[in-house]
Amino acid sequence: MSCIFIFFFFFFFEGSYTKVIPSSIINSTVPLSYETYIVHVEKPAHVRTETLTDEDHWNYYRSFLPTHQLSSGGQRLLYSYRSVISGFAARLTRDEVKAIENLPGVLHAVPDRKLFLHTTHVSDFLDLSPRTCFMRETNFGKGAVIGVLDTGIFPSHPSFKDSGISHPPSAKWKGHCDFKPTVCNNKLVGAKSFNHGTHKDLPFDDDGHGTHTASVAAGWLVRNADVLGNARGTASGVAPGAHLSVYKVCHAGEGCLASDVLAGIDQAIADGVDVLSISIGARTVPFYDDAVAVGTLAAVERGIFVSSSAGNAGPGRATVQNDAPWMLTVGATGMDRAIRATVRLGSGEELNGESAYQPVGFTSILLPIVYPGARGGSRAKTCSDGSLTRLNIKGMIVLCHTGGTNTSVEKGAVVVRAGGVAMILVNEEERRSTIESGAHVLPTAQVGYSEGQRIVVYATSTANPTATILFKGTMYGTSPAPAVASFSGRGPSRLNEGIVKPDIVGPGVNIVAAWPFPVGPPALEAGNATLATFNVASGTSASAAVLAGTAALLKNSHPDWSPAVIKSAMMTTADVLDREGKAIADETLADAGYFAVGSGHVNPTRANDPGLVYDLRPEDYVTYLCGLGYTDKQVSVISRRAVECSLLDAMTAEELNYPSISVAMGSNMEKTVMRTARNVGEMEAVYSVQIRAPEGVEVSVYPEKLGFSEMNQNMSYNVYFSTGEVGGRRGGVAQGQLRWVSNKHVVKSSLLISFV
Ligand SMILES: *[C@@H]1O[C@H](CO)[C@@H](O)[C@H](O)[C@H]1NC(C)=O
Ligand SMILES: *[C@@H]1O[C@H](CO)[C@@H](O)[C@H](O)[C@H]1NC(C)=O
Ligand SMILES: *[C@@H]1O[C@H](CO)[C@@H](O)[C@H](O)[C@H]1NC(C)=O
Ligand SMILES: *[C@@H]1O[C@H](CO)[C@@H](O)[C@H](O)[C@H]1NC(C)=O
Repeated sequence: MSCIFIFFFFFFFEGSYTKVIPSSIINSTVPLSYETYIVHVEKPAHVRTETLTDEDHWNYYRSFLPTHQLSSGGQRLLYSYRSVISGFAARLTRDEVKAIENLPGVLHAVPDRKLFLHTTHVSDFLDLSPRTCFMRETNFGKGAVIGVLDTGIFPSHPSFKDSGISHPPSAKWKGHCDFKPTVCNNKLVGAKSFNHGTHKDLPFDDDGHGTHTASVAAGWLVRNADVLGNARGTASGVAPGAHLSVYKVCHAGEGCLASDVLAGIDQAIADGVDVLSISIGARTVPFYDDAVAVGTLAAVERGIFVSSSAGNAGPGRATVQNDAPWMLTVGATGMDRAIRATVRLGSGEELNGESAYQPVGFTSILLPIVYPGARGGSRAKTCSDGSLTRLNIKGMIVLCHTGGTNTSVEKGAVVVRAGGVAMILVNEEERRSTIESGAHVLPTAQVGYSEGQRIVVYATSTANPTATILFKGTMYGTSPAPAVASFSGRGPSRLNEGIVKPDIVGPGVNIVAAWPFPVGPPALEAGNATLATFNVASGTSASAAVLAGTAALLKNSHPDWSPAVIKSAMMTTADVLDREGKAIADETLADAGYFAVGSGHVNPTRANDPGLVYDLRPEDYVTYLCGLGYTDKQVSVISRRAVECSLLDAMTAEELNYPSISVAMGSNMEKTVMRTARNVGEMEAVYSVQIRAPEGVEVSVYPEKLGFSEMNQNMSYNVYFSTGEVGGRRGGVAQGQLRWVSNKHVVKSSLLISFV
């Protein structure tokens, strides 16, 4: 023990900041401007880091800093990370950072950055709860702990009651509840807040997002849940038997700092979560600059499954976020349900829309339409706050467009304050047919882009345009379903075109779950105390939470599955066709394609019995990072250990044993990628290959049959691709599919060719 400490202190005196930093940079005539940096350092030499205490880490990291305190007296070292990175977060000036980067043992310093919640707008209530034999097989996720990094939680909501839920596994669970007095129970087993290096705030949800995502993943059953008197039913998370541990890393109005997120992941690893649900992100940056990517790799190495949102920056190309191959990247789809609100025009024409607020006895008398966008600027067109004050809209139905600074529900408040009595909300072009059923504060119908254009034409070409809204309640069986939402982040990944991203899609439009505030017209009354209610939110946040819940279910039925195996099981069994048997569509109603759906729409029951799986070891990701062309230092930052890429077997991103296959091909080119499948189905099974080759590419597989004779047996096969002249297809992609078929299972892999 003492021997370890001798080496340890020796190291940190050698690397000590004060010896290296030139005194000239301390310039007292200029007020110092501190920013937070995340600094990656080598692990202390000659020391097994597992033996270090928190205090040892703290002291080691402090040895890189010029002083322990800021001139203002504030704390300089904000976070001393344990497992999530080898490094710390500290307040530093730009000059100090430059000096630190030159110290021996320092690998990389990254300025802190703000990440964003992946929710678009908020709506109202629906039901999502498959009560199947699959749920019994997976015990509703019993025993698994889902860690949710978000805005905190509203702990007294009925969705977080623990009746019928057992204690968390005591051998494994080390989390704490920071609520005082403690309001945690067997459902909510941990809660902590992270805010600029402190844990002082209680982890209460001041936004709604965290309460919503937590209850989507693992909310307990609440019967007769309703909102505004509508759509009464049972509300339930995907894994109602699982435990929740909440890490509040986002704060209302402030977003989520990468340094706080990293601290949250660090804590979740120490606590012993099984699954992480991360519905926050930002524009992608190289993995060594991306705290979430680095932190989640540490989690995955410890067997923690990470479900993360693809982001809501769609539908443009290359808008996908959280796209590291060790994360499950989840896009969002709409379901086959609508809470109908139909616009009836004075001409007699009716156009279908949606609204979760369904007022009883709303007038069927036609009201005059006012269209602030007819002559006003873009603020008036989107009914943004302050843009309607000079218009006389008393008693009128107001035509507004989505977009601008205010959410759909906020626009309603703007209209009410200006005297309007109802709102028709028209989708902007890129949203097309993706409609959110908002819990509006006044009678509203949100309609798709093409329906909206008809209304605009009517309102601008008719002398005295009139309209009303007919509220028709919840309808099922709408099509196409599932369909990718307009906002869902799209591939290709900017960083790793060797991997198709997103990986998968799941429900993320109009998802019902717990909410800490009143919704609908009561929300207009100021000063209302926090109130348990339900709400619908749309966003890839919700879909990532659905997949986190699904992972908890699979952890229960397959405790030995690695994160990569769970991911493989989800991806190779995902549905590629919608309920009518057509390719899953996007918001334009056309085939969405792999850059929108990834491997398809999650099918949890099939994922429980995938037949074959593609596994990955943590060290495979290191080889993959070398294959991306990163330097040894950059790979060392991400993998938290010294790596020399030249000593590893070279591998391209295409060759990672991923459940989907993406290759870049030029003219007259041949390529081979290998995959290794493991048998987790029947002991004896024979699989034959079926190939749907991407257009313009020849594909063959060897061997064409895989005969397994034992469980967990591994067999490899090669996929050969060859192209002719690429010509005008350069820059485009072609899609195909490879399937291994036995008499019990179909194991699907997407094939995506990018022509270069
Ligand atoms: C301190 O900063 C001021 C303003 O930028 C500069 O003029 C001065 O030369 C600096 N002094 C030293 C010692 O670097
Ligand atoms: C509209 O958005 C602005 C900017 O985010 C916000 O300050 C304002 O409160 C919003 N208006 C309403 C009615 O919520
Ligand atoms: C708070 O909200 C509830 C339910 O939405 C409503 O009945 C009540 O009147 C509101 N109270 C106040 C003080 O605004
Ligand atoms: C298949 O590979 C995995 C991971 O490398 C290994 O754990 C397992 O033991 C292998 N199966 C057999 C039957 O060797």
